[in-house]
Amino acid sequence: MTKTLILLFHPDPAHSKANVVLAAAAAKLPDVEVVNMQAIYPDGIDLSKDGEREALRLLECDRIVLQFPIQWYSTPSLLKAWQDAVLTRMFYITYETEGRIFEGTPLMVAATAGNVPDAYRSGGRNMFTMNALLAPLQATAHRCGLPWTEPFVLYRADKLSAEALDAAAVEYAAALKRWIAGSTALCVQEPELRRAAQ
Ligand SMILES: Cc1cc2nc3c(=O)[nH]c(=O)nc-3n(C[C@H](O)[C@H](O)[C@H](O)COP(=O)(O)O)c2cc1C
Repeated sequence: MTKTLILLFHPDPAHSKANVVLAAAAAKLPDVEVVNMQAIYPDGIDLSKDGEREALRLLECDRIVLQFPIQWYSTPSLLKAWQDAVLTRMFYITYETEGRIFEGTPLMVAATAGNVPDAYRSGGRNMFTMNALLAPLQATAHRCGLPWTEPFVLYRADKLSAEALDAAAVEYAAALKRWIAGSTALCVQEPELRRAAQ
């Protein structure tokens, strides 16, 4: 069995409507673990204090999902702090024992946005496409050798009815299942082969 780790970065999970529903659906899938990062790190995440624990968490999974609400055309600050703390440790400080081993782990982004899809077309109300706004994460995945897949994006996330949110959760679970099935073959290969397959 392979393990899928979903790191949920929501700054206020108690008031989340969309992300909690998506995360609950994902958590019901076999071998999927959802970690509420805000609950663990309400005061932020620190490279020297928390880096080892979070590096170990990553090294124990076969694929990783970064799930979050879009805030100001970007990620919540805890996700950026996680990159600064955990990825800096793994890929600059302890590369040989951590980063090198984590390379090849497939990564998916799952984001919710308040605005409508049309606002995210090139030259639209938000000026940039969602893929363009997610480019820093894609660049990070590329730098760390983590195979990127088409992100799952839920638009109008804060305006959807309970029924529409349930339907979105079904879609999210299906997208995860497809991705897991497609990336399982890579996961059982050696890191070198995974890198070569990118
Ligand atoms: C501080 C803040 C900034 C936000 N910025 C954006 C934004 O740039 N683009 C957008 O489409 N929605 C934006 N939103 C809306 C959130 O993305 C939306 O409320 C969230 O995805 C809904 O998920 P939730 O119910 O799990 O909180 C913002 C919300 C907040 C609170």
